[in-house]
Amino acid sequence: MEFNHKPVLLKECLEGLNIKSDGIYVDGTIGGAGHSKEIANRISKKGLLIGIDRDEEAICVAKERLKKFENVEFIHGNHDNIKNILEDLNIVSVDGILLDLGVSSYQLDERNRGFSYIGNGVLDMRMDQTQELTAEYVVNNYKEDELARIIYEYGEERFSRRIARKIVETRKYSKIETTDELVKIIEEILPKRNGEGHPAKRTFQAIRIEVNNEIRPLYNTIIESINVLKPGGRLCVITFHSLEDRAVKNAFVDSCRKMYLSTRYTILYLWSCFKRKNINKKANITIRRGNKAKSKK
Ligand SMILES: C[S@@+](CC[C@H](N)C(=O)[O-])C[C@H]1O[C@@H](n2cnc3c(N)ncnc32)[C@H](O)[C@@H]1O
Repeated sequence: MEFNHKPVLLKECLEGLNIKSDGIYVDGTIGGAGHSKEIANRISKKGLLIGIDRDEEAICVAKERLKKFENVEFIHGNHDNIKNILEDLNIVSVDGILLDLGVSSYQLDERNRGFSYIGNGVLDMRMDQTQELTAEYVVNNYKEDELARIIYEYGEERFSRRIARKIVETRKYSKIETTDELVKIIEEILPKRNGEGHPAKRTFQAIRIEVNNEIRPLYNTIIESINVLKPGGRLCVITFHSLEDRAVKNAFVDSCRKMYLSTRYTILYLWSCFKRKNINKKANITIRRGNKAKSKK
């Protein structure tokens, strides 16, 4: 399977990052290196690009795609640990950070990763294949209430209770091991309807978010990212759904409030895209805060 991922909001991110040729940049979600390639193209040999991904396969692909660039450091890790990752590289602060949150189209298309409700695959859904928790564990071991909560909260699925009940009833007789088995359970509760999207879409999203702990650390990750920016540094975040969006916006707003009182001069950009496939529907927010002295001039 080829790792094809068309970088989302590429132009806006490059504009937002306002790349300085000798700067230090972090792509916290390097994936197929679509954004990173363009960042690498814009920095000189004195600059540095640090590409992080929790998926080892993505790191391998990114290394191959960026092999002509000498000044790229690849890290298999979690951007939630951005401060420690930078400390290990003896870097205190950076000029720009990009976070393109969520799964890549490669991960969705690759059946043996279990992210997709289309085509059969093992119930895995781990972005980082070295972690223990899998979708199979969640589906077969979480209590009914907990499953219902996750499906409701992370999938915004109004039939969450009925789906959770059906999962628990089914697993009494045999373990649920494949994506097809899970899809069939959901389809018994929610039959396919024209124009309404796949009935399993929201439940799959919810289980994936739980397996990869995508929402809980996000607020702190954004705060940490802002804290490691140099004065004048930029942070661009691409979000996909409302839960990510809320956590990111709250962190931006909270830290802007604090920043207004401090002497830092940092410009933050948030590019928010609710539906990747429909870029025109994007909400585009720019938050700028200057230091008091400068803003009085
Ligand atoms: C939407 S894709 C990024 C695609 C990339 N911008 C490109 O142009 O090819 C998201 C990537 O972020 C990775 N990822 C998601 N959460 C992460 C985290 N907390 N830490 C590190 N990588 C993460 C995923 O494994 C995936 O490869």
